[in-house]
Amino acid sequence: VIRSILKWPQDGRRLHEKSVPVPGDEFEDIKELVQDMFETMYDAGGIGLAGIQIGVALRIFVMDNHEQRVFVNPVITAFFGKKELKNEGCLSLPGIVEMVERHEEVDVEYQDHVTAAKKKIRLKGIEAQCAQHEIDHLDGITIPDKMSPLDRTRLASKLSKKGIGI
Ligand code: NI
Repeated sequence: VIRSILKWPQDGRRLHEKSVPVPGDEFEDIKELVQDMFETMYDAGGIGLAGIQIGVALRIFVMDNHEQRVFVNPVITAFFGKKELKNEGCLSLPGIVEMVERHEEVDVEYQDHVTAAKKKIRLKGIEAQCAQHEIDHLDGITIPDKMSPLDRTRLASKLSKKGIGI
């Protein structure tokens, strides 16, 4: 089922919500959610989507950059390399690309969405960037929160001129 995606700035308050961990006994209940998240992400043409972007404040995100990955209760446990400015988009900011500082490689610990088993993966490049972006979402942070107040105001007015803002 394709769900509607929260957009900035009009849904800014909900996007700022901090997501809560998926409890150990609720993994059975997230199967449909994971399916819907992939469908919604593919429909919108993205490579990553966090639960909060469809209004579900659980610590879960999906990613597909040539391989489907699901992360439940993810935590970045190590960063590698210097932070570099990279072009970044977000399905909650359609049509917008901004420069955001990200590490080139990260280790992510998370739980498997089927077995709840703890796992760890090292991600590089676009997958590392995506994981950092999605985990920001779980903490209520979207790209505009990383911008200066002036740039943020400019972005909001650009979006409202395009007719998709406030
Ligand atoms: Ni995003």
